[in-house]
Amino acid sequence: MPSTAQTMDVVIFGAGGLGREIYDTLLTINARGPAYTVRGFIDEVKAPGTTVNGLPVLGGSAELEAMHGKVGVILGISLSEVRKKLHQRYRGNFTFPNIIHPTALVSGFAALGEAILIQSNCVVAANATIGDGAMMNAHSGVGHDARVGDYCSIMSYCDLAGGAVLGESSFVGTGSKIIPSTTIAPNSYLCAGAVVFKDVLVASKLMGNPARIIG
Ligand SMILES: CC(C)(COP(=O)(O)OP(=O)(O)OC[C@H]1O[C@@H](n2cnc3c(N)ncnc32)[C@H](O)[C@@H]1OP(=O)(O)O)[C@@H](O)C(=O)NCCC(=O)NCCS
Repeated sequence: MPSTAQTMDVVIFGAGGLGREIYDTLLTINARGPAYTVRGFIDEVKAPGTTVNGLPVLGGSAELEAMHGKVGVILGISLSEVRKKLHQRYRGNFTFPNIIHPTALVSGFAALGEAILIQSNCVVAANATIGDGAMMNAHSGVGHDARVGDYCSIMSYCDLAGGAVLGESSFVGTGSKIIPSTTIAPNSYLCAGAVVFKDVLVASKLMGNPARIIG
């Protein structure tokens, strides 16, 4: 799609699974009204000039830096620490739009930071907070008054219930649940299917139902 005054030029950082999912989301958004001109992927591993799902790999960090001021950056990497590093390194020079799939329901009373990804069929309820660089993959929910810290990675089919707090840079494996008003320390890791009923006071790895600390 050619760039127009109405669209924002963007690149997707990461041409792996999440980056490809994001490209699909951008195509879905554009099908409802042109919003983004997707220039290509930035990827440190794949060779520049190759294509992924028809979109070119433009190069790595050096090529991104040469596009300073010309493109917005969408973080297509699910590792919290990588998203944090990239956002903090480039936030002064690039814009980081929030990408919200058209099927997601985000309350007008929720507070969103920047560089956020919310994929298909997610729900963000009233007065919830989503921090900078956080991501929610498909079919996940964040309840009323819940708080998702900066750079958290919430995988698909997860629920963070009302009033729960997920500390910065935590990972929530697919199908996990966090019951209302539970607080989870920053840098925690919930294995797939974990169900957390109690506050987690220090960074921990949690598994099972009820979730047990395993590391
Ligand atoms: C927890 C996790 C990291 C363990 O990975 P691993 O160290 O490679 O573990 P293994 O696959 O070797 O399994 C070791 C044992 O733990 C069990 N196990 C693994 N993950 C489990 C989970 N989430 N809950 C309960 N048991 C689990 C396995 O069944 C196996 O049991 P066994 O010893 O009785 O056979 C991984 O299973 C997980 O949950 N990752 C999250 C993945 C995710 O949600 N990704 C997002 C979508 S892309």
